[in-house]
Order: sequence, then C-alpha cells, then structure tokens
Amino acid sequence: VEEPPFDIRALRSDIENMISDKLELGPSLIRLAWHEAGSYDCFKKDGSPNSASMRFKPECMYAGNKGLEIPRKALEPLKKKYPQISYADLWVLAAYVAIEYMGGPEIPFSWGRVDAKDGSVCGPDGRLPDASKMQGHVREVFTRLGFNDQEAVALIGAHTCGECHIKFSGYDGPWTHDKNGFDNSFFTQLLEEDWVLNPKIEKLQLMDRATTKLMMLPTDVSLLLDPSYRKYVELYAKDNDRFNADFAKAFKKLTELGTKNLHKAPASGS
Ligand code: HEM
Ligand code: CA
Repeated sequence: VEEPPFDIRALRSDIENMISDKLELGPSLIRLAWHEAGSYDCFKKDGSPNSASMRFKPECMYAGNKGLEIPRKALEPLKKKYPQISYADLWVLAAYVAIEYMGGPEIPFSWGRVDAKDGSVCGPDGRLPDASKMQGHVREVFTRLGFNDQEAVALIGAHTCGECHIKFSGYDGPWTHDKNGFDNSFFTQLLEEDWVLNPKIEKLQLMDRATTKLMMLPTDVSLLLDPSYRKYVELYAKDNDRFNADFAKAFKKLTELGTKNLHKAPASGS
C-alpha cells in the first residue's frame, strides 16, 4: 500500500457528499469511467483507455458519449481542490465511490493513471457498444476489450442503476425499480419480467408488461437469447454476493486497462 500524493480520505468523502446532493450523478460517474475505458483495443493496444482522453475532441463529440459532460464538469471543482490527482484517477475513484455509495461492492483502488495530453491518442468512433444490436455485437466488443462472457455479463449488470435519457441516447427510463441502488436486480428483472415492445419510443426498446415503468435495451435482452450469456444471467440473479464479487473484479480490470505501474491505495474504510 502506498499513500497517494493527495488526501484520498478527504477526496472520497467529498465525492460521497457530491453524490448524496445529486443522486443521479452516481450512475453517470460509473458510465463515465466505463466509456473512458471502453475505447480500448486489446489486440492493437490502442484507444487510450483510462487516460481521461474523453476530455478532448474528437472523443468528447462521439454520439455514445453524449451526456457525459455532466459528470466530467461535476468533478472539475474536486480536480481544482486536489490538483495532485490525475483526471484519469479521479474518474475511476469517483466511479468506485459511487458503486460503494449505492450499496455495491468495495473495489480496491490503485492510483497512478497518466492523463492524455491531447486528443491525438483518442480511439476511433464506433468502439462503444451499439444498444440496438444483439449478442454477436456484444461479444465482439467485449472480446476486443479483453473480457470473456462471464465478465461481460457481470459488467452489464451495472444497468442495475441509473437510466436512459432521450436527449442523450434516444432511449428512455430505468432498468430497475431502485435506480439509485446497486445490486443484482438487473438480472432478476431481466429473468422475471415479461419484456414487450415499448410503442411510445421511437427507438426499439422493451418495457415490462406488468408496470411498463422499466426498460431493457436490445443488447440487454440478447443476454437471455445466448446460452453462454444466459448461464451467467441466471447465476447472478440467484447470487448477489457472487455478482458483487465478479462485478468488482471485472470493473477493476476495466478501469486498469492500458495502465502500468499503478500503486495500491489505502482501503476505503481505513
Ligand atoms: C446507461 C448502453 C454496458 C453502465 C446506458 C445507456 C445506454 C447504454 C444506451 C443510456 C445512456 C443515456 O441515455 O443516458 C450500453 C450498452 C452496453 C452497456 C449497449 C453493452 C452492451 C455498460 C457497462 C457499464 C454500463 C459495461 C458499466 C460497467 C451504465 C450506467 C448507465 C448506463 C451506470 C446509467 C447512466 C445514467 O444514469 O446517467 N448504457 N451499456 N453500461 N450504462 Fe450502459
Ligand atoms: Ca480514453
């Protein structure tokens, strides 16, 4: 364990306070860290993951990153208050704090990510998953990122929190009844509800027949149609501890893609 050059205890509590003042920030911080990493190509070793390259053009203009200027702007005052942390570390730490704050697993944080200097290192557009596609596309994207089927399903379980916004993605609504809680309910809803077409939304999305308040994306329901994916949907629906443990591992791996020489920070409770 190595103390970072910023007061990580004070910073964690500032992030927590920011989220408790504005609950919808929590899920958006998780999505920010995911999209920053999601441009990686593990075969070409490019795409500048975990470098906060999304601050720059062209990446900040990609359609898939619409709406992420909100969590990025929200973190600016903390970057000013703790200038020794890199943006790249701050985005990841904020996501970990959000996950824990909402009741998800504690993820051991390591620091030392290096910020991109400009947009020349940004990956090409089109590397983030397209929600209108099915399991073949999901597998292609997560394989390119270096994740197997189990890890992909665990990661997509992050849709337990937050919601879709018409103005950002063209999709609308939350996946679960508690959009500010983090548990395996994405998987229990996916299995238990009867998912039917939502006729009110221009894009193709599904709603639960019972309440019509919940939504699933085509990529989400495709996890039910693919036997290798479905096996893990069923496992995580049955076992919240297993989901928490597997999500923590996969999200740590995601948020360390392309990095080197990271240092273990003191645990959040210490
Ligand atoms: C939100 C697609 C995987 C975390 C969204 C939205 C879409 C989407 C369309 C709505 C954005 C908006 O309108 O604001 C997908 C697809 C995935 C995927 C197609 C893979 C097949 C993931 C992964 C994570 C994640 C791996 C994290 C580990 C989130 C979170 C939100 C979200 C937390 C809610 C954001 C908010 O409430 O502001 N996703 N996603 N997603 N996604 Fe995903
Ligand atoms: Ca990046």
